[in-house]
Amino acid sequence: MNNFWQTIPKPFYILAPMEDVTDTVFRQVITHCGEPDVYFTEFVNVGGLAFEQKNPQLGQIVSHRLAKNHEKPLVAQIWGVTPEDYFESAKKIVELGFDGIDINMGCPVKNVIKQGACSALIKNPNLAAEIIQATKEGSQNQIPISVKTRIGFDKIDTQNWAGFLLGQNIQALTIHGRTVKEESKVPCHWDEIGKVVDLNNEIEKQKLEMKSETKSEKEGELECETLDEILNWKIDNLELLLSEILQD
Ligand SMILES: Cc1cc2nc3c(=O)[nH]c(=O)nc-3n(C[C@H](O)[C@H](O)[C@H](O)COP(=O)(O)O)c2cc1C
Repeated sequence: MNNFWQTIPKPFYILAPMEDVTDTVFRQVITHCGEPDVYFTEFVNVGGLAFEQKNPQLGQIVSHRLAKNHEKPLVAQIWGVTPEDYFESAKKIVELGFDGIDINMGCPVKNVIKQGACSALIKNPNLAAEIIQATKEGSQNQIPISVKTRIGFDKIDTQNWAGFLLGQNIQALTIHGRTVKEESKVPCHWDEIGKVVDLNNEIEKQKLEMKSETKSEKEGELECETLDEILNWKIDNLELLLSEILQD
């Protein structure tokens, strides 16, 4: 996977996705005023994109919103409810040469919530996980998948919700530091964003520890030649581990 999130300079400066604002013309104007490290499109509906894929004779009504020029890296933001539509849209977005796909799970507009899309997914983590999976499969893991969301629906629920998303093996997570109910009417809860950073650091640390344990197990196995030797090696290590736990 070509994951630009790992190579951009830190701290980075991003042009946020804005409906009816961040089209290619606006993005090019911004390039001349102060080039960001990452660009986002406006959000584009996956139902519309998938319909267009299946009915090319009807023209490009929705995908013109994905028109682009030389802005790079450029992330296409998408929204909707049906995992199959995310799968089709992700395929198309990779074909169009985008650098990433961002799934909107934060928009608080009543019309989209009524459909069960965007920030309504905070109340439907199973569907959110299916959507992320379908998007990964559609993109064939060629470009990074990210999510943009809020810190809860009616009340702050950062630990649960952000923890759940960080467990979905996504390449980036953007947090709008307000609940859906708060819309944009209160100051941002910066401390909650800080909690997500801490949570992510903790998860990454655990992953690293697990990786190094798996690696040393593999290395140990490589030193053994027969199945018996491998089994004995594993039993020895298990005993060692158990005695360490008992001593603790
Ligand atoms: C006009 C407008 C359109 C927006 N459209 C989107 C959008 O399509 N997708 C999205 O994730 N956020 C959208 N947002 C939210 C912004 O990206 C940003 O997260 C939000 O404005 C929070 O920053 P603020 O507190 O400085 O307003 C939009 C915001 C504005 C003002």
